[in-house]
Amino acid sequence: MTEPWNLGAGLEDRVVLVTGAAAGIGKATALAMASAGARVALLDRDGDGVHATLDELGDDGRHLAVSFDLSNTRAIEPMVKDTAAKMGDIWALAHVAAVLRRQPLEEVTEEDWDLQLGVNLKATFFLNRSVGELMIAAGTQGRIINFTSGSFLVGPLAGSHVYVASKGGVVSMARGFARTYGKHGILVNTISPGQIDTAMQHDGQSPESVAAATESCPLGRMGQPEELAAVVVFLASKHASFINGATINVSGGAIMY
Ligand SMILES: NC(=O)c1ccc[n+]([C@@H]2O[C@H](COP(=O)([O-])OP(=O)(O)OC[C@H]3O[C@@H](n4cnc5c(N)ncnc54)[C@H](O)[C@@H]3O)[C@@H](O)[C@H]2O)c1
Repeated sequence: MTEPWNLGAGLEDRVVLVTGAAAGIGKATALAMASAGARVALLDRDGDGVHATLDELGDDGRHLAVSFDLSNTRAIEPMVKDTAAKMGDIWALAHVAAVLRRQPLEEVTEEDWDLQLGVNLKATFFLNRSVGELMIAAGTQGRIINFTSGSFLVGPLAGSHVYVASKGGVVSMARGFARTYGKHGILVNTISPGQIDTAMQHDGQSPESVAAATESCPLGRMGQPEELAAVVVFLASKHASFINGATINVSGGAIMY
C-alpha cells in the first residue's frame, strides 16, 4: 500500500533543535516541527518569547525551552550537550536565529561588526560543529539546516553591509560542513529567504522601502514565515535524503538563481 503523503515523514518523535524560536521564521519552524510530530528544543535569547512559543505548543513535557544567547559562543557546546542529555539524540538542527543592523556604511563600528559576525557566522560554526559531533558519536544520520539571505548573492539592500558579509560566510561554511559530514550520512543545507514578513524585515526600514522591495518580487508580496518553515520541515524529513550542500532560494522569484 502506498503511504499517504506527509511532508514531515520521518520526524515523528525525533528531537529537533530550533534557534530563533521566539519569533518570525524560527517560531513558525518550531510550530511546524511540533505539528510534524517532532520533539522540539526551542532556543532563543528572548526567554519570555521562547516560553510563549512553548506555551503555544502546549507544554506537555515533549518540548523544551532553551533561553540562550548565541553570542556566548564558548557556551554553545555545553548547551548542545545539555540539550541532548535532557531530550535525547538530536536528529536535526534548524538554525534560524540571526541579527541584522541596518546602517549607512560610514556608521559601521567594530561593535556592529563583532555582534553580527559573532551571532550570524561564528555561532553558526560552533553550533553546526557541536551538533555534528554529537550526531557522529551517536551514529545519527541527521540534518543540519542553516539560514542565509538572498542578499548574500545580490549584495546589501537597505544598509545591511555587515550582515550580508556574515550571510555570505554562512553559505561557504555550510558547504564545508556538507563535504565533511556527508561521509557520516549527515546532510547540511542552507535556506536563502527573500523578503519575509517578520520583525527583521521591518526593523530599520521605512514603509516605502519595504513596499518598493515587495513590488520587485514577481509575486508582488512578501513571504510568510510558514512558507519557510515548510521548507525546513521538508529538508529534515526522509524525503530530502539526497539533498546536501544546497543553498535553497525561497524568495518568490525576487532573486532568481
Ligand atoms: N525576514 C526576512 O525577510 C529575511 C530575509 C532573508 C534572510 N532572513 C533570515 O531568516 C532567519 C530568520 O529571520 P526572521 O526574519 O525570522 O528574524 P526575526 O528577527 O523576526 O527573529 C529572529 C529571532 O532570533 C533571535 N535571536 C537573535 N539573536 C539571537 C542570539 N544572539 N541568540 C539567540 N537568539 C537570537 C531573536 O530573539 C528572534 O526571536 C535569519 O537567519 C535571517 O537572517 C530573513
